[in-house]
Amino acid sequence: MLRPRRQARVHLGCGDVRLKGYLNVDYPPEQGVASGTSRPDLEADVARLDAPPGSIAEVRLHHLFEHFERANALALLVRWYDWLAPGGRLDVETPDFDGCIAGFESRDLTDQSLILRHIFGSQEAPWAQHYDGWSRTRFAAILPRLGYEELTFELGHSDPRGLLANVRCHARKPAVAMSRDERVNAAREILRWSMNGDNPTERGLLARWEARFEEALVPPAARS
Ligand SMILES: C[S@@+](CC[C@H](N)C(=O)[O-])C[C@H]1O[C@@H](n2cnc3c(N)ncnc32)[C@H](O)[C@@H]1O
Repeated sequence: MLRPRRQARVHLGCGDVRLKGYLNVDYPPEQGVASGTSRPDLEADVARLDAPPGSIAEVRLHHLFEHFERANALALLVRWYDWLAPGGRLDVETPDFDGCIAGFESRDLTDQSLILRHIFGSQEAPWAQHYDGWSRTRFAAILPRLGYEELTFELGHSDPRGLLANVRCHARKPAVAMSRDERVNAAREILRWSMNGDNPTERGLLARWEARFEEALVPPAARS
């Protein structure tokens, strides 16, 4: 459980980017970024953190969100919303799936390999896999359903040639928050978007996704 000071800002999965004015959080250096050079203020698994409701002014995460599987990612968006104070900000940057695949088929194999690494992760460590693809369209569809508003976007790149597209989304928790029940129901509906038809097998998969989502919603300290 974080015991944040007033108006605290948290920077999750900070890696080597230690920001002043934020609580910078990452795995211990030997477990985190490949260089082992990160010096977070707090060494922790982001998915296991919790904070008192309404205690955080900003949740910032750049190139971390894609490391969570679909159900966990939705549960984290629900939990971070709970942490945020009214008017609090979410600042999330990920690879831009739409930008990465634009013109992909006509690129040479080395460029394709680099882009695939950006989409699927650098894969040098257990955490370094990407489990989902994010884009302006997906953030714009999902975040408002989970109560976030005033979305703005920045599109950029991780390389000078413009192959490795990124999307950065800024969003806010409104002064009058959406209820947790409404957000949880919306997240369950979003999980259904990934079903391949309605049949017993797919309903079984959905039940498992929902179970993982429900588990990830509960703060770790409260899990039995
Ligand atoms: C791709 S790096 C991004 C680093 C930095 N945010 C940046 O933009 O350069 C992802 C970082 O997230 C950290 N990370 C991944 N999963 C994590 C987790 N569950 N808890 C804490 N840190 C995590 C890794 O150790 C790594 O430092």
